[in-house]
Amino acid sequence: TFVVTDNCIKCKYTDCVEVCPVDAFHQGPNFLVINPDECIDCTLCEPECPINAIYPEDDVPAGQEVFVALNAELAKAWPVITERKDGLPDAKDWEGKPNKIDLLER
Ligand code: SF4
Ligand code: F3S
Repeated sequence: TFVVTDNCIKCKYTDCVEVCPVDAFHQGPNFLVINPDECIDCTLCEPECPINAIYPEDDVPAGQEVFVALNAELAKAWPVITERKDGLPDAKDWEGKPNKIDLLER
């Protein structure tokens, strides 16, 4: 399965959701996640993210392993998103900032 990681938090550009053939993306207030029970590993979403927040689960950046379980957990709680919308208002300011996980809203 593929996993959305830290850099998506407070950016949420949503380019990724439009290409998913199985509607695996679920969104919360300032982050989105992939449902591991739906993802078919097609790889299409990975290059769509303009800030490289999506990785295969066995290749997430060091220190971000927690996002594998977090995607599974939050996908159960959040609604599906299939259409692109504008990124969050301050997205540009938050691109690439490390350890945004403390700012994750549920
Ligand atoms: Fe959807 Fe494919 Fe991305 Fe999995 S890898 S979330 S199936 S676009
Ligand atoms: Fe997030 Fe990138 Fe998708 S910022 S919403 S993973 S396009």
